[in-house]
Amino acid sequence: MTESPQAHRKDEHLSLGVSLWRDTTPKKQIGASFDDIRWLPNTFPEMSIEDVDVTTNLFQHQFNWPFYIEAMTGGSALTGRVNGQLATVSANTGLAMAVGSQSIALKEPSQATTFKIVRQRNPEGFIFANLGADHPIANVRDAIDMIDANAIEMHVNVAQELVMAEGDRQFKWLDNLAEVIAKSPVPVIIKEVGFGMSVATYQTIAQLHPAAINVGGANGTNFAVIERRRNRNDDSFNIDNYGLSTVESLISAQLAQNALPLIATGGIQNANHIVTSLMLGANLASSAGFMLQTLMDHGELDLTKQILDWQQALPRLFTLLGAKNIAELQQNQPLYSNSLQNFISQQKKRS
Ligand SMILES: Cc1cc2nc3c(=O)[nH]c(=O)nc-3n(C[C@H](O)[C@H](O)[C@H](O)COP(=O)(O)O)c2cc1C
Repeated sequence: MTESPQAHRKDEHLSLGVSLWRDTTPKKQIGASFDDIRWLPNTFPEMSIEDVDVTTNLFQHQFNWPFYIEAMTGGSALTGRVNGQLATVSANTGLAMAVGSQSIALKEPSQATTFKIVRQRNPEGFIFANLGADHPIANVRDAIDMIDANAIEMHVNVAQELVMAEGDRQFKWLDNLAEVIAKSPVPVIIKEVGFGMSVATYQTIAQLHPAAINVGGANGTNFAVIERRRNRNDDSFNIDNYGLSTVESLISAQLAQNALPLIATGGIQNANHIVTSLMLGANLASSAGFMLQTLMDHGELDLTKQILDWQQALPRLFTLLGAKNIAELQQNQPLYSNSLQNFISQQKKRS
């Protein structure tokens, strides 16, 4: 069956996203990375690993693990199969999972099965629906119903759209988001897709009162690069180095005195990154490109093993730092590199 241009785009995002992560040449880092943060050693934890509780409460739900598989796929035959595999892995490891944008399934109802498979394979799991910030409440309800979602991510992706040759050029989202947040039957998360959030953005989002913010920072999947590659590396519009990293976005939330729950996404590729994100104020973390590349290159079993490794590492890392739970972990004050310190002092001068 020939698929629509939108379905073809899903396949291109998948293959380019995977090859970006597969690329072993060191990627240029945007701003401060996880390596700019060091943990202080705790010589006397005075606890045992059995005392550790890594669960996190959000949306009146207890998540067994403080990380999940982030939004990527669905909308074509290939990405539907990938959604099914990710859902099987999430069910077997007790992780929550987000589906990719369901916009295509609202336009092409035959593609709904490529999302519904996630609920079929993980009937008890916590599943996030996903749509762009311009979708009205009627679409939001349809997307939630399609997969019996527990929450919905509304993605904000100005930078991606502007690089995309066929992307949107008009971005008037705030009134719509306010209506969606007021009327959605499930919690609404406002989610960036890898360009991060500044102090001013958090202050704007605070007025909307969403259930949570996904900071979606740089240094993981880079949609400026992916969209340029889709466009034969067109260099006439190049924002490859644009954005704030996940670390900088989390610190910006602190500087903005953000009181909303935070989800850390962008470049998370080991348990240490999850711990650092929690320490910087996140309630949950999530990983997209790294999980996808592991699945596509090594298969379901290896992705399952990777996740089990993270799940085993977390209580050990909490013990290392003398933290019985996330609240205690957040008492730790990490050390910042000079460049991160510089970022913070420039931000403080402005706020
Ligand atoms: C192939 C692919 C497709 C994606 N599609 C979506 C999407 O449909 N909706 C969305 O909100 N984010 C989407 N994302 C962005 C991720 O959810 C995440 O915010 C971003 O990749 C940064 O996380 P990472 O560095 O762990 O990949 C996609 C990412 C990838 C790799």
